[in-house]
Amino acid sequence: MKTVFINCSPKKRFCASAYFLFLQRLFTGGKKVTEKLRTPADFDHILKQFDGAQAVVFALPLYVDSIPSHVLRFLEKAEAYCKENNLKLSVYCIANNGFIEGRQNEPLMQGFEHFCTRAGLAWGGGVGIGGGVMLNVTRILFGVDIALLVLNTVLSAVQTGNFFPKGAWISFAQNAALLLYFNAGVLVYLARLGSCIRKRSFGGKKYTRILIPSFLFILFADIFFIIISLFEGGLFRGWLQKKQPT
Ligand SMILES: Cc1cc2nc3c(=O)[nH]c(=O)nc-3n(C[C@H](O)[C@H](O)[C@H](O)COP(=O)(O)O)c2cc1C
Repeated sequence: MKTVFINCSPKKRFCASAYFLFLQRLFTGGKKVTEKLRTPADFDHILKQFDGAQAVVFALPLYVDSIPSHVLRFLEKAEAYCKENNLKLSVYCIANNGFIEGRQNEPLMQGFEHFCTRAGLAWGGGVGIGGGVMLNVTRILFGVDIALLVLNTVLSAVQTGNFFPKGAWISFAQNAALLLYFNAGVLVYLARLGSCIRKRSFGGKKYTRILIPSFLFILFADIFFIIISLFEGGLFRGWLQKKQPT
């Protein structure tokens, strides 16, 4: 069975959609093809991959409570292509959004359901994920955690000859467990979706989010965006900058 995974984030790198697609691929068997949909130049070669495929998985961000416009253009073209070539694909969707509630992806999911009806494809359902940006950051934190463990192990081996620094391993395990907990809802629902993709069955729409209390999410998000703003154009993206007359 061939499954086409499409990362629909317009970002060149480090997008949350790529992270969720990576996890989804772990839970899906058979032949896997991954494509990136960023501009209309990508449309044709992605549609070619539909030939001989049984399932397509779209991973995309929520934009203004809906489907990003470049994905809408692609769906219009895909509708015509699937009808012309009489394709019978099962379609699945992994949507993520910046705010905390995954349920905000419901209108986007409905868009995909309508696309399937119009194109004569089987809607398989999907997962809507809230706090996508923050979940994406957890993968960096995990990488930092591994790097610290390696560094501590090397230092301990050089200084004392001990290749198993217990304190460093305990700290690594605690941090990893916390990050795993934050991602637990996503992992459960993506594993479930993987089982549906393998069977080409209908999984329905499921919504989850980063598993932290909302008041903490707001606090972390505020700190995160102030730091990002400072790096990308000054505080509040240059709102306080003196404006040049145009
Ligand atoms: C133009 C634009 C519109 C957005 N609209 C929403 C929105 O309506 N609701 C929301 O929760 N997040 C919104 N976001 C945040 C994205 O959904 C969020 O950053 C997502 O994690 C990006 O996924 P990606 O990294 O895979 O591109 C928007 C982001 C952009 C750039």
